[in-house]
Amino acid sequence: MTQPFHEPVMVEEVLRLLDPVCGGVHIDLTAGGGGHALAVGRRLEPGGSLVMFDRDAEALTVARERVAGLNLRIEAVQANFSDVESQLDALGIGQPDTMLLDLGVSSHQLDSAERGFSFRLDGPLDMRLDASSGETAAQMLARLDALEIERILREHGDERWARRISSAIVRARSSAPICTTLQLADIVRSAVPRSIHDHRIHPATRTFMALRIALNGEMEALEAGLAACIRRLAPGGRIAVLSWQSNEDRRVKREFARLSGICQCEPGLPDCRCGARVDLERLVRKPLEPTPAEISANLRARSAKLRGARKLP
Ligand SMILES: C[S@@+](CC[C@H](N)C(=O)[O-])C[C@H]1O[C@@H](n2cnc3c(N)ncnc32)[C@H](O)[C@@H]1O
Repeated sequence: MTQPFHEPVMVEEVLRLLDPVCGGVHIDLTAGGGGHALAVGRRLEPGGSLVMFDRDAEALTVARERVAGLNLRIEAVQANFSDVESQLDALGIGQPDTMLLDLGVSSHQLDSAERGFSFRLDGPLDMRLDASSGETAAQMLARLDALEIERILREHGDERWARRISSAIVRARSSAPICTTLQLADIVRSAVPRSIHDHRIHPATRTFMALRIALNGEMEALEAGLAACIRRLAPGGRIAVLSWQSNEDRRVKREFARLSGICQCEPGLPDCRCGARVDLERLVRKPLEPTPAEISANLRARSAKLRGARKLP
C-alpha cells in the first residue's frame, strides 16, 4: 500500500470552528496534500472560491489534483503565507470568509529522505520548505558560530543540551563539512549524555526541529502571517490555526487574546503597550486536541492543538 501524502488532522473540529458555507471564500494558507482544503471546499460548492498557498511546489501540485473535481474557483499559489495580502490582491480576492493555517511540515516532507527533514532517513541536510531557493541547513550550519547555533537550539527547540550540541557541531565541521542528515544525527547523539540515548524520543528530535524552524523563518512567518490574515478576514469571518509545538501555540494564543482585548503586557506597567484591542472573539478558550481515537489511528496527530477566532463585524 502506498503511503498517503499527509493525513489531515482534526478535520471535523476544523469544520466546526470555521463553519464554511456554500458560495464562501476560503484560504488554505498551508495546503500540504490538500486534505483540509478538500473538506472545506466541499462545503463551499457550488460557486465558492478556494485559494491554496504552500511554499512547497510538490505539495501544491498534489493539493491542486486533490481538489480539482470541486465546483469552485480554485487558485494555487506557491508563496510564503506571510505575503497573503499582496497575493490575494494579485488574484483580485478581497476579504475571505474563512482561513486555515496548519503549521509546520507534512508527513510527505518528513518521509522524503531527499528533503533532509528526518534524522531517521539518510539524505542531504537540506530542510528547505521551498526546495528551489535559499540556503540549505548544511550551508546554515557551516556559516553560523557556536553561540548562534546554541541560541537556535534553545529558542526553537527548548533543547536542554544546546551548548554541548553546538560545540560538537563546530568541532565536527572543523574536520569535515556536515552534509547529511545521519551525520548530524550522529553528532547530536554523541554530544548528549548516554543516559538519554534510549529515551522514547530520539536525541536529535529537537535539534532537527529547531534548525528547520530557524532555516525557514517559521516563527517570523507565523507572526507576520497571522496578523495579515486577521487584517484581511471579512467582518464575521473565521480563522483557525493548527499548531504542532508549544512555541507556536503560545504565539497564537497570545495574539488571539491580544486581539480579543486582553492586554499581554508584563504586569506592573503603567499603561498598555501591546496594542490590545477588540477585533476578535475567541471560539475556544483552551485549544482543542485530537480525540484518543484519532491519535490511535494517526500517531502524528498527538501534538496538534487547534484554536479559532471570529472577526467581529
Ligand atoms: C502540516 S502541513 C499541511 C497539511 C494540510 N493541512 C493537509 O491537509 O494536507 C504544512 C504545510 O505548510 C507548508 N508551509 C509551512 N510554512 C509555510 C509558509 N510560511 N507559507 C506557506 N506554506 C508553508 C509546508 O510546506 C507544508 O506543506
